[in-house]
Amino acid sequence: MKKSYLPSRRRMLQTSLAGAGFLFFSTLGRAMRPASTLPPKLSFGIANLKYPFKLDDLPYAHDAFEPGIDAKTMEIHHSRHHNAYVNNLNAALEKEPSWQSYSLGDLLAKLDTLPSSIRTTVRNNGGGHANHALYWETMRPGGSSPTGELANAIERKFGDLGGLRAELKSAAGSRFGSGWSWLVCDTDGILAVRSTANQDSPYMDGQLPLFGIDVWEHAYYLKYQNRRGDYVDAYLDVADWATVSKNYDSVFAS
Ligand SMILES: [Fe+2]
Repeated sequence: MKKSYLPSRRRMLQTSLAGAGFLFFSTLGRAMRPASTLPPKLSFGIANLKYPFKLDDLPYAHDAFEPGIDAKTMEIHHSRHHNAYVNNLNAALEKEPSWQSYSLGDLLAKLDTLPSSIRTTVRNNGGGHANHALYWETMRPGGSSPTGELANAIERKFGDLGGLRAELKSAAGSRFGSGWSWLVCDTDGILAVRSTANQDSPYMDGQLPLFGIDVWEHAYYLKYQNRRGDYVDAYLDVADWATVSKNYDSVFAS
């Protein structure tokens, strides 16, 4: 008897039952997956900011970093770019009041569970707000040196501050297009250098951003045009490692 390649009714029934089962369990799996939350050890400072978000004044004058970072760039960067991220983030959450009680860190850590209507806006503007708040916090006229546990951890991981600077500069230089170069740590305080695209934040991956170099052109183009490396050197020269050290200590305090 010639073998038929047409599916038998039994085989069709088995296939459709298997497909239905797969769909049921994959849907159930998605529904039951616990929403990720930023680890408590990393939930302090910027991660704890809440709606309605606001743009803080800078604790220094726009020209405080001349000639390395020019006053006009500082003014535009803070009062227009950062301000737009804050306003856009607030506007998104106005549409979804049930998400207004979440901290900025949790919003970023839970991105994949946010309503699709605001997910991309929160990703870009929540990330933009968190990233820029840290950028201003960890720069100081004249810069400062790492202390305590951070100084020890930098020595262990990078040899010295020069080794860390070189890795941050390399990550900044190799980021294609817009993004950030980061010093991050995990809940055990293990340091790493990485970069992210656009306004993506290390909080999205459950990491603490300790120090970030903004390599969007809006951060340097007026003064440096395409010389990103020169701008990175200028920003690293005013890095406030003492503040970074204090934030790093917070990971071990909880
Ligand atoms: Fe920026």
